[in-house]
Amino acid sequence: MTADGMLALHTLRKGIPGTMPLVLLHAFPVDHRMWLDVTDLLPGERTVYAPDLPGFGTSPSGPDVAEAVGADPEQPSIDVMGDGVAATLRRAGIERAVIAGLSMGGYVALSVLDRHPDLVAGLGLIDTKTTADDDAARAKRYELADTLVAEQRVDAVFSMRTSVLGRTNRIARPDLVERIEGWINDQGPSGVAWAQRAMATRPDRSHLLPAFTRPSLVVVGEEDDLAPVDVARKMAYALPDSDLWIVPRSGHLTSNESPQPVASGLSRLLRRAQLADQAD
Ligand code: MLT
Repeated sequence: MTADGMLALHTLRKGIPGTMPLVLLHAFPVDHRMWLDVTDLLPGERTVYAPDLPGFGTSPSGPDVAEAVGADPEQPSIDVMGDGVAATLRRAGIERAVIAGLSMGGYVALSVLDRHPDLVAGLGLIDTKTTADDDAARAKRYELADTLVAEQRVDAVFSMRTSVLGRTNRIARPDLVERIEGWINDQGPSGVAWAQRAMATRPDRSHLLPAFTRPSLVVVGEEDDLAPVDVARKMAYALPDSDLWIVPRSGHLTSNESPQPVASGLSRLLRRAQLADQAD
């Protein structure tokens, strides 16, 4: 845990100095370890960072990060996560990077783009969406957050060990179910509840996409029920310079169900972003 409210920033791979770094933002309710499979398949010259978002892994709690970035500690918010990522990167001397996030990590990547656009040389949106929750989804999140806090256990989100996988891998990949369960088990109920409340209040950020002219990547699992293919297609069409990768036999956690296409898409995104910056 960091003492100053900055996030735990994990260097998953040290690359060649001067090449465009990659920052990977994890999904709910896990931590930076979900990116290890993808990192293994990325080209060696790239430095790859993955923070633990507030309240996950070894990062400080949401309220502590809020205080560190000058936000209201009483208000869980995706923007506290985004500001925490930006402050942590700057503290580590990272002023420009490709920022990519999966699901909740995508909501945070969009917050960074909105509030710290100078940091974003390229954007990866993986199994995620730009829209806000409707009232029913928001109410479900608050109910789940209350249960997590009341029970002081993370059992209420255990079902995600299978629901994040596609229908193929729920059956074919018991090893993956077990790994995800281990990651979920390592999180604290307060951090998980805080993130649910933060996601409940996130704004619609669809308007950012047509204005982002830098290289971008949209990835979606063909069997993703939580952020489905039609949502990904819309995001890719709205982004002026995007690649769209639809991953067969994969659900919501493409990073671990099918890490190879995710790594290939990110690798291409890094090259495109570096070339675009060099052309300036
Ligand atoms: C995730 O995978 O991060 C979650 O499905 C995000 C969400 O609950 O909206």
